[in-house]
Amino acid sequence: MLKKDLLDINSLTKEDILSILEEGERMRDAVESGAKSLDALRDRSVATLFYENSTRTKNSFENAARFLGANVVSVSVGNSSVKKGETLIDTGMTLERIMTDAIVIRHEVAGAAKLLADNVKCHVLNAGDGLHAHPTQALLDFLTMKEIFGGFEGLEVAIIGDIKHSRVARSNIEGLKKLGANVRIFAPNTLMPQGIERTGVKIAESVEEACDNADVIMGLRIQLERQKKGLFPSVGEYVKYYGITKERVALAKKNAVVMHPAPVNRGVEIASDVIDSDKSYIYRQVTNGLAVRMAVLKMLIIGGER
Ligand code: CP
Repeated sequence: MLKKDLLDINSLTKEDILSILEEGERMRDAVESGAKSLDALRDRSVATLFYENSTRTKNSFENAARFLGANVVSVSVGNSSVKKGETLIDTGMTLERIMTDAIVIRHEVAGAAKLLADNVKCHVLNAGDGLHAHPTQALLDFLTMKEIFGGFEGLEVAIIGDIKHSRVARSNIEGLKKLGANVRIFAPNTLMPQGIERTGVKIAESVEEACDNADVIMGLRIQLERQKKGLFPSVGEYVKYYGITKERVALAKKNAVVMHPAPVNRGVEIASDVIDSDKSYIYRQVTNGLAVRMAVLKMLIIGGER
């Protein structure tokens, strides 16, 4: 049973995750059959409050709420009273007083979603907080894997790229271990978090070892702006030693797939021909993101019953 808020994957049981995925499958079936005016959240109101940029998460949450019949308030932080110094808690309490049932928040600071959740009565959904968590990204990744492979037990998942700064990697690792998958990771030493082996993941010695016999190869975005900080020598060297290329994908299982939370730096973390190949599920992940966000909004606001 989900609690008041969705703040991270760690707070969910395996059964919670599986019930969200089942609801997500129902939502995906509904929207793919053309249903865009369901009424599960009629007379409810959802606010999105994004302090960081987003294309996928913000717009899929907003469409998810609209397709379920909710009213949507999209706070434009850059044009809001945040710019006059209003605090996060005061902003959240203001949204609550205009009859908001759920606030979807993205913030650059880890813990911001929990701070908000602790100070408002309405539901809070974390759409990414600093380096901490991005639970709905992990849930949509799980929905995509379930769609392709049918389950998770023994699934071999390779996560390659900037693990250190990735809330997506952290949330995926937490959930995949609960679901019974095996996770191997590979990153430049400077982008590998200390102590990560304590989570039960295997650290590969090379990108080839990470890809070898994998079912899923998941790339992570390299933040090119970090180049100034010297976290790896050059983009060219990153591609050579860490890039997901056709030749490296061929080391994985015959039916292996390539995933990425996106946005992707084409030709950096994943070669452009791989992104455009039938191995790539990057755009399928986006549709599954809509479905899983419909599921969690419905389950948090009105409960799991149909
Ligand atoms: N994957 C993801 O969170 O994308 P956005 O930053 O576009 O929301």
